Amino acid sequence: MPENSNHYTIESANKVIAQNAAAHKSETYRLNYHLTPPCGWMNDPNGLIQFNGVYHAFYQFYPYAPEWGPMHWGHAISRDLVHWEHQPVALAPDQEYENGCFSGSAVNNNGVLTLIYTAHHDSKSPKELQCVATSRDGIHFDKPIENPVIATLPPDTSEDFRDPKVRTENGRWRMVVGCGKDGIGRALSFESADLLHWEYKGVLCESDGKMGELWECPDFFTIGKERVLMFSPIRMPGHKAVFATGDFDEATGRFRPKALREVDYGDDFYAPQTFEDENGRRILIGWMDMWNRSYPTRDENWAGAFTLPREVIIKDGSIFTPPVAEAALLRGKKLIDNSFTLIKNSAANIDEVCGDSLEIKCTLQFDKESCREFKMKLRASKDGSEETLLIYDPATGKLTIDKTKSGIQTGGSGISSAELKLNRQKELSLDIFIDRCSVEVFANDGEAVVSERIYPSKESIYCDLTTSGGDCTVKNISAWELG
Ligand code: FRU
Repeated sequence: MPENSNHYTIESANKVIAQNAAAHKSETYRLNYHLTPPCGWMNDPNGLIQFNGVYHAFYQFYPYAPEWGPMHWGHAISRDLVHWEHQPVALAPDQEYENGCFSGSAVNNNGVLTLIYTAHHDSKSPKELQCVATSRDGIHFDKPIENPVIATLPPDTSEDFRDPKVRTENGRWRMVVGCGKDGIGRALSFESADLLHWEYKGVLCESDGKMGELWECPDFFTIGKERVLMFSPIRMPGHKAVFATGDFDEATGRFRPKALREVDYGDDFYAPQTFEDENGRRILIGWMDMWNRSYPTRDENWAGAFTLPREVIIKDGSIFTPPVAEAALLRGKKLIDNSFTLIKNSAANIDEVCGDSLEIKCTLQFDKESCREFKMKLRASKDGSEETLLIYDPATGKLTIDKTKSGIQTGGSGISSAELKLNRQKELSLDIFIDRCSVEVFANDGEAVVSERIYPSKESIYCDLTTSGGDCTVKNISAWELG
């Protein structure tokens, strides 16, 4: 805590980070190649942008303890999306209108990197208003006297009115803000010519009564011809973050969802945000954690991580989110390059594939419908008492990640699943990224993704494969050490 706990500043936040920086080496769980906070707490990705060639990622940050507290914006930069360098804290809740700088986005306004965020204040009413902060060097930010730039609540919201995401369209700045009213989650639209004066344009989209009571972190974008509204709904059973695809009517400003799909089927995923990079790719990063967990890394004075960046693409009318191509830059020593058939009810040792930071890629071909279950053990101990199980049932198309024996349990469901039908060749492809306390599974090039935090002991570094029922051909299994 800073000396005066009502007065958080960038200087005191940077000081506490510097004091903690030396501690990393002795940590068991510190992720090798995912972005984590230097110390303290991280939640949502904020302000994702490529600015003058450099990728910037900001995040919800409380540097003083590994728990949620008065929110700052942490900051890291990267030239390749997979190697990140920490930067000084970008925003502290240092103005009279805020005791937290909540989630938001970033735009390049003619060479001025502009952050648009929610100023949250617990003891004010309204408690959430929208603000901006600007920077020419991409590191030091100023808050203008015009703040809050949206200083009153529009009629269609309650006091939960946050997470502005700004884009340009038809020469105007357009913003979506998340909210809810009377149990109906909503995204509201605003427009501006200068990022300082905003005009309310009404409800972009709202729940039909089954899509959650409050929408956090809405993001409205286009890929190809498809309009996508992504949001993180509160109290939408079975859903944590969804892509809604549908029709946008320019005249009414209304978006009508036609199809919904989960952004990530894992237990530990929330509040994703996307941005378009300078090559025109749409890239997505999520918070690889979730509210109300026990966060075992608190013992190491940090909590929270980002997922690997993923590209959002449309194939045959469906959204796919494969890892960005740059993930291949993480590859070190190649551990296996092989193809073989797993005979029914047998196990295959892949002893050479071991470690706490790995990529494992393979294509499975299920020759007979009789193959009931393919199983892959990840981060397993020698004696089998600890393991994270990936299970695929070709008959039902169900992919399951079972982490009930993964190590320390953190309060999530422990079992996640996604539906993936086999293609005509009866194949399923898997690209699995293991880090020291995480697993991300990309099935069929990102048709479904499952992100999980796991907390095995250091010695649990083994993998193996089994089938039951019939045969399964493991085509082209490759694995690399990562980091
Ligand atoms: C989502 C969220 C946002 C809010 C932020 C606060 O995880 O609740 O709605 O801006 O976290 O840290």
